[in-house]
This record gives sequence, structure tokens and C-alpha cells, in this order.
Amino acid sequence: MNIIEFRDFFRSQLNVSNKESDYIFKILLKELCNIDPLKIALEPNFLIKPENDKILISSLNKMIRNYPLDYIINKKSFFGNDFYVNESVLIPRPETEELVQWVIDDNNTNDKKKLIDLGAGSGCIGISISKTLINFDVTLADISKEALQVCNINKDNLDSNVKIIEYDLNTEFTKNQLFDIIISNPPYLDYSKKDEIDNNVNFEPYIALFAPIDNPLHFYKQILDFANKNLNRDGQIYLEINPVFIKEFKDLLIKFKPNDVNFREDFRGKKRLVKLSF
Ligand SMILES: C[S@@+](CC[C@H](N)C(=O)[O-])C[C@H]1O[C@@H](n2cnc3c(N)ncnc32)[C@H](O)[C@@H]1O
Repeated sequence: MNIIEFRDFFRSQLNVSNKESDYIFKILLKELCNIDPLKIALEPNFLIKPENDKILISSLNKMIRNYPLDYIINKKSFFGNDFYVNESVLIPRPETEELVQWVIDDNNTNDKKKLIDLGAGSGCIGISISKTLINFDVTLADISKEALQVCNINKDNLDSNVKIIEYDLNTEFTKNQLFDIIISNPPYLDYSKKDEIDNNVNFEPYIALFAPIDNPLHFYKQILDFANKNLNRDGQIYLEINPVFIKEFKDLLIKFKPNDVNFREDFRGKKRLVKLSF
């Protein structure tokens, strides 16, 4: 097939608008086949080689099954940088960029603070902060060895100086360290609502998405317990939360007595971000 025939084949197979199908086709050409998408307009008879033909067809079949494009190309742009992603980590979301921006806005580039990102996944939060707030001492922590491998790839690719540790939020933190800032986007989806959730999360790791079935606030309690022992006295916690459980979240806070609680809406108008000051 030539490039135009291939584009039209994508259009006919994908259940999306032509504009979206063309976008996907162009990304695959560029990222996986090293073919400049401009050829579609400038060289419509350009013949796709058999090896690229195979790659495009196999990617198309994945896309038909709602497999995420970001996993196919192993890349997701987040806060101005390309992060390597694979099935071991959550695909970074745009609302999480707003949480990162909040920390950056609250601090000066010269500040020297210790920050820990709990449940780091790809490392997108901590690495993005460390690249802007260059004097910050940033630690990334996750329970998943596979996610930590992805963190390490991103640390190297993006030339970052973060520290990476394996840590299970359900256990005592044995490193004798105090942090000024804790940031986390923990697993917060409600498993009982699984069927109502968009089916393209089907390919993301269960451990990154879902809170324990009987306790959707479980990880928030663990983070607050962690903060009780490991957060400096006037520290802050920045969290992404499930907008559905705001009341339960407020109830949980009573025991931990923060000095100040600020909720923020994400760009979709959902109360999804919160900052706790102690
Ligand atoms: C929602 S993902 C967030 C990933 C990344 N921070 C982001 O915002 O894209 C939650 C992360 O928490 C990690 N996690 C799950 N259970 C954990 C536990 N018990 N202790 C530490 N991390 C955990 C998962 O492996 C996953 O990487």
C-alpha cells in the first residue's frame, strides 16, 4: 500500500473521526517507522516498506482493541518532557500536571527543600518538579519494582538527579528522614465502580488504579500516617483525590488536624487537587 491508501485504511478501521484517525496514523509513522508524516501531503504515492507495513498493521489492531497509543509508542508528554511509559505504569494525566504546577508556584527556584513523591509510577511528578526547582532534594518511592525500572529510565533519559527507592506505603518508613513536602497521586479508583470507568484504563496496572475494595480512602490514611512521622512540622502535602470521596476525605482529616486545607478544581472543573498545610 502507498501512504495515502494506508491512511484511508486506518480511517476505515478505526471507530473515530477522520481527524483523530489521521492524528494516530501520523504519530505511528513518525514514532515507529521514522517516516515524516508530511509525505502524506507531499508524496502521496510513497510506498510503505513491508517491515513498516507490519508495524502499522499490528499497531492498528491494538488501537482497535482500545490499547493506549502512548503504550504503543512508549511515550507520553508531561510537563514539557517526554516520559517513557509501558504497561507497568499509569499513563501520566494532564490533571496531574496541575498538581506539579501548584508545588512550583508555591516555591522559588532557589528553595532547598526535601520532597517525596509517594507512588511515583513513571516518575513524572517528582522528575518534573526536580527539573524546575533545581535545589530540591527529590525522592521517588513506589512499591512496584517494574514501575521503579521505568522511573530509572526516565531519570536517565531526562538527566535528573532524583533518588529512587522501593517503598510500600503499608509499611513503616525506616529511613530516618524528614521531608518538607509530600506529594502523591495514589491509586484512588473505586473498584466497585469498575464497569462505569472508561475501558481504556483496562490496560493500565491494577495496582496503580484501584484502592482496596472495602476502603477507597486507604492510601490517603497511609499517606497521612506517613506524614505524622516523616513530615517536617510546617510541611505541606499535595494530593490528587477522587472527587467522589471529598466528604470522606474531609472526615479522615479531622484526626490529622492540618492548619489549612485548600481544594482546587482540575481543568475539567472537578475538585481533584488538595493541599494540606501543617
Ligand atoms: C495512580 S498511580 C500514580 C503514578 C504517577 N505518580 C502519576 O501520577 O502518573 C499510583 C502509583 O502508586 C503505586 N502504589 C500502589 N500501591 C502502593 C503501595 N502500597 N506503596 C507504594 N506505592 C504504591 C503504584 O505502583 C502506582 O505507580
